[in-house]
Amino acid sequence: MNKNITVLSGDGIGPEIIREAIKVLDKVGEKFGHTFNYTYVDIGGCSIDKYGVPITDENMQKCKDADSVLLGAVGGPKWDNCPSNIRPEKALLAVRKELGLFANLRPTKLFPQLANASPLKQEIVGNGIDLLIVRELTGGVYFGEKKTEVINGEVLATDIMPYSESEIERIGRVAFETAMKRNKKLASVDKANVLETSRLWRKVMHRLAEEYPEVEYSDILVDNTAMQLIKNPTQFDVLVTENMFGDILSDEASMLTGSIGMMPSASLSSTTLGMYEPIHGSAPDIAGLDIANPLGTILSVAMMLRYSFDMKEEADAIEFAVNKTLDDGYRTGDIMQEGKIKVGCKKMGDLVRDRI
Ligand code: IPM
Ligand code: MG
Repeated sequence: MNKNITVLSGDGIGPEIIREAIKVLDKVGEKFGHTFNYTYVDIGGCSIDKYGVPITDENMQKCKDADSVLLGAVGGPKWDNCPSNIRPEKALLAVRKELGLFANLRPTKLFPQLANASPLKQEIVGNGIDLLIVRELTGGVYFGEKKTEVINGEVLATDIMPYSESEIERIGRVAFETAMKRNKKLASVDKANVLETSRLWRKVMHRLAEEYPEVEYSDILVDNTAMQLIKNPTQFDVLVTENMFGDILSDEASMLTGSIGMMPSASLSSTTLGMYEPIHGSAPDIAGLDIANPLGTILSVAMMLRYSFDMKEEADAIEFAVNKTLDDGYRTGDIMQEGKIKVGCKKMGDLVRDRI
């Protein structure tokens, strides 16, 4: 197959982790007879520096025209004081919206080789953590009306959190379908004791639950979810939630595995066009030092092959290679353990590539 991938390396460690993921992807192409063509496009701080905006219209079009999009990370202290409409993060939100990437899948998996890296006690981690957060990505408070105004001589800021029935239903369907392919257990996270949007969310989810009688469905409040993720994380299989709750809970969940550097994600639309990125940020403090962990990005590429290109065997090959590299004792600094072999970002990429 021939696939066109638009690559948004971004800022900080973005370019170095992307380089390793492409290396692995090229090896997959070679081995399985595919051609991956890359179009590199600026996003975030580097785009602000060059063009004065976090993404240009032309570059946005290149994302829309691709078979799939691969993203590193955006942002850094250099652009923290930019006006809110040209912050690096703006570009990320714009790409999500313009490409219709409403379903964000964030798997949280504790690799058995890294069991010691989890800050939780062994008895809580049990036989390993393997849960999936399905986060709504193009609605809610991130995209609702925002304003800052002066009322009665005082500054008042407002962010509105709207959700329509159809927006809830389409993310709900993704969650139920995903649960059907996993352990058929779905928890829907909301704040229905306080929020109107959550009450509608719950109503729609209950309607869907009737269509999926095989799925063991439950409602859980977001504050309780935050607690249960630490107290008893193995109770969860699939969690579905709105945009901001998903942002917060997915960072919390990633820590169960010890390193956010290992976690991939997929942002899916109603077509096969998706965007794939590690869930960690641009880590400007370690940029250019060749110490970043590229595995989150490499595993994101595996998700791209699986979800956008329907290349199951190829995706398995990448996941197998990552596992083998860990089995063979190689670790980047963030997941380093005594007795293991510490390697840099580039070397880690080589090791995975050589195991494809
Ligand atoms: C994420 C990030 C983004 C978000 C930021 C960078 C806008 O935290 O992908 O989780 O809040 O969605
Ligand atoms: Mg986040």
